[in-house]
Amino acid sequence: MEQYVIKGGNPLVGEVEIGGAKNSALAILSAAVMTDETVYIDNLPDVRDINVLLEAIQKIGAVVERIDRHSVKINGSTIGDISVDYEFIKKIRASYYLLGALLGKYKKAEVPLPGGCNIGSRPIDLHLKGFRALGARVDIRGGSICANAENGLVGKHIYLDMVSVGATINIMMAACMASGYTILENAAREPHVVDIANFLNSMGANIKGAGTDVIRIRGVEKLHATHYSIVPDMIEAGTYMMAAAATKGDVLIKNVIPKHLEATTAKLLEMGCEVQEFDDAIRVIANKRLRRTHIKTLPYPGYPTDMQPQIAVVLALASGTSVVTESIFENRFKYVDELARMGSCIKVEGNTAIIDGVEGFTGARVSAPDLRAGAALVIAGLAAEGITVVDDIVYIQRGYEDFEVKLAGLGAEIEKVSSEKEIQKFKLRVG
Ligand code: EPZ
Repeated sequence: MEQYVIKGGNPLVGEVEIGGAKNSALAILSAAVMTDETVYIDNLPDVRDINVLLEAIQKIGAVVERIDRHSVKINGSTIGDISVDYEFIKKIRASYYLLGALLGKYKKAEVPLPGGCNIGSRPIDLHLKGFRALGARVDIRGGSICANAENGLVGKHIYLDMVSVGATINIMMAACMASGYTILENAAREPHVVDIANFLNSMGANIKGAGTDVIRIRGVEKLHATHYSIVPDMIEAGTYMMAAAATKGDVLIKNVIPKHLEATTAKLLEMGCEVQEFDDAIRVIANKRLRRTHIKTLPYPGYPTDMQPQIAVVLALASGTSVVTESIFENRFKYVDELARMGSCIKVEGNTAIIDGVEGFTGARVSAPDLRAGAALVIAGLAAEGITVVDDIVYIQRGYEDFEVKLAGLGAEIEKVSSEKEIQKFKLRVG
């Protein structure tokens, strides 16, 4: 199993380029099969989740051709199988986007029911409620969701009981090829919801209001070819902003949309960072100990749940007591026990973490419990005194391209290793 080994203490200084948004790409790659013409997609992040989904799309019969590390050509005209293998859903839950895409195009689809994951139970009842509202018959058989609309899908006025990114996207994909008009109320407003709506419109769909809580969709018969570039990843960008803050660094994060990072920027300013915004870049400077603040994760444009572990690490080193409330997922504090091994002082009460800032961390051996918590533990290692080894980095590789390479480019002493021998060599090299 691969690990990261880190010698902490270096302030991160320099420039880092942000890639395409993983969570947007997962939806857009699924939607690409909704036309029988060829779709070109650029600015794809080269991460594990994307590569697994491309395999799933190939497995159902679409032609997938990698042009380069960040570009792909997809043609869905040769799809012969509308059921997705369990192995793919087990690896990435977001394969369930193929449900909305295949149901929209073929009026039937079969996808294994995704299990829970490390951050919570994560039901998909709202997705299924939306498909049923559009006229599909949806049954759970043998662990799979079998959706069927032999009389076609018909547009409807749908109200989502709670804000759900996945349900908003999945229902939007099915509705864009239904007959008639769909109104989706209480829709998610994340930038990647807007990105998938723009992508579908570039294929001839008729979707209005994405980015607001009411999305209006007029169904179309067919979708056509397009050439599309994925939006920059606001969570990858926010992760490097927090790494700069935690290490008292000075980092220019390039190829971002500052507006998408407003909640993160606001919190860093509250904590005493200097943040400079440019057209497509953000600079974070932290040259003194930061101060406490309170965080409550909310749907966009509120503070993102995917940025919760990362800011908790920065607050664990700030002066004073901070409170972090996780209102989206029920089990997103698993990194707290790992962070305690590095000297943090955090108490978790239900969905709230009370964080007493400490002067500094000491390096330790820790294990990544999930994608964003894993990235947060790397940030802690960068700020700690001494050596940190992060195990189970396969979680981190799911969503961060070249994480250790980009951090080393900012002056971090970090390497990806896969044996104790390599860890010893690293320790000898860094002294
Ligand atoms: C997406 O997950 C992201 N994943 C998550 O990012 C992100 O944390 C989340 O949105 C919130 O922003 C992808 O885009 C692949 P939700 P999703 O539906 O769509 C409940 C990462 O680190 N819910 O907005 O699954 C659900 O349990 C990942 O990149 C239902 O109850 O999130 C949660 O409490 C982690 N029923 C809340 O809604 C449903 O049918 C929000 O979930 C659907 C969701």
